[in-house]
Amino acid sequence: MKLLTAAQIREADAYTIQEENMASLELMERAARAFTGWFENKFLPTEEVFVFCGPGNNGGDGLAVARLLHQRKYKVQVFIVGDTAKASEDFKANLERLPEEVQAQTIEEEKDIPELPLIACVVDALFGTGLTRPLTGLYEEVVEQLNNSGACITSIDMPSGLYTDSQTPEGCTIIKADNTISFQLPKLAFFLPQHEEYVGDWQVVPIGLSEQFVSGVETDLYYTSRRDVQQLLKPRRKFSHKGTYGHALLLCGGYGKMGAAVLAARACLRSGVGLLTIQAPSAGYTVLQTAVPEAMTLTDPNRRHLSELPEAIDKFDVIGVGPGIGTEPPTKTAIGQLLATSSHPLVIDADAINIIAGSDRLKEQLPKNKVIFTPHPKEFERLAGKVNNDYERLQRLRDFCQEHQCYITLKGSHTAIGTPSGKVYFNTTGNSGMATGGTGDVLTGVITALVGQQYNLEEACILGVYVHGLAGDLALRTVGDIGMTASDLIDHLPKAFMCLQQ
Ligand code: ACO
Repeated sequence: MKLLTAAQIREADAYTIQEENMASLELMERAARAFTGWFENKFLPTEEVFVFCGPGNNGGDGLAVARLLHQRKYKVQVFIVGDTAKASEDFKANLERLPEEVQAQTIEEEKDIPELPLIACVVDALFGTGLTRPLTGLYEEVVEQLNNSGACITSIDMPSGLYTDSQTPEGCTIIKADNTISFQLPKLAFFLPQHEEYVGDWQVVPIGLSEQFVSGVETDLYYTSRRDVQQLLKPRRKFSHKGTYGHALLLCGGYGKMGAAVLAARACLRSGVGLLTIQAPSAGYTVLQTAVPEAMTLTDPNRRHLSELPEAIDKFDVIGVGPGIGTEPPTKTAIGQLLATSSHPLVIDADAINIIAGSDRLKEQLPKNKVIFTPHPKEFERLAGKVNNDYERLQRLRDFCQEHQCYITLKGSHTAIGTPSGKVYFNTTGNSGMATGGTGDVLTGVITALVGQQYNLEEACILGVYVHGLAGDLALRTVGDIGMTASDLIDHLPKAFMCLQQ
């Protein structure tokens, strides 16, 4: 699914209004109904609701919401910040429509800002995607007071003060919403970790924007929906055999880190690969043969760490490398040989990333369009350089993938997948229970298995990251977030694939 900029959202609004031959006020009404539907499921009508409106169409949405909530028996108070004489036409129309029982007060100076009750329910409709500059003056004061009030804040479309798709200048005041209800599509700002405290939990409610417009819009930013991912999933064929689903090689494990190899291998097998061979330091032989009996195990002559590539490496369809391998000199040499000689796709994780990050020569040797890196943000910075904020990180991701013609799954709450063509996909599955050791090894195993099954590298990243997060979401239901382990993800991978097959 596409992510649209604020300007494109404005165009989508205008296109829909024209296509459906309706008044803009009707689209605003749709948006307000969609928001109110969500609100009713979340808050009981016993709640007293305080709606804060700015002078634009976001404020207009707020006024329409106030009217609809009043009709649904909520006790509503409206506070307007800004000059209503200069407000948008749809704002003015909705102000007219506000029933007498709903008190609307204008905040003209600081002393007009209301003191909220201890437990208050606030709707933030000060500014939406039309924000063009930092909040100042009375707007800033209102937002600061709301943030300090302890109220439960729900923002309409965007938290006021937060830029939709570019860096909000440092030190600006921004609403800290508990919930943000976004119309039709999520915004880029929602996917960036630095905005967590402003956006809160976000949800999208449909308002019927033109699908024709959205499908024609040019963008290089996407987020993955279940429907997108389901379309990628290939059915297994009736007359197939283990050779049909690829032979993967995992180069992983080290003395004291054989668990990383076990996790990657088990995840690989649970993700549909036909055959799996693991090459690990000889100290791991018994562990691997016992923990992963379905895999074949080759031993490295070195007892403690990877030092050699297996013979006949060309017989494998994909090679996953990195979990638990360490950065000893013989391991660095082996990684260099791998990059120089392998003609197969490579899934590169953990210390294999660190080794490449430390050598410009190795970076230059990366085979084009054959590499998937799976770094966490620290590993990414080692590989691609330090950044100051999430927007810079996003740009660096694009630049690195384009320069080196590689794929990167940059792990996080919304893992960002960069591609050689400059596209970025944000993942939408997963939860904080997955923030625990070994879940990255699981992802390496999953993606390696998918590449082995002939998914192209872009598909393998999108599907692998999604199903990995979905397994985490399924595990959440049985073990919760505190007690979740990487092994729980592996146990839930089969169910996650089954969910996608439905
Ligand atoms: N301080 C003071 N004023 C500011 C600031 C600031 N920091 N930043 C922006 N503004 C002003 C802008 O200049 C603008 O005023 P202007 O129109 O006089 O130039 C106004 O605030 C914009 O405020 P917003 O309410 O954030 O933006 P907009 O009016 O574009 O509305 C919208 C955003 C359309 C509500 C969006 O969030 C959305 O898509 N909502 C769902 C659909 C909907 O309700 N659409 C409205 C009807 S259709 C239509 O408008 C075409």
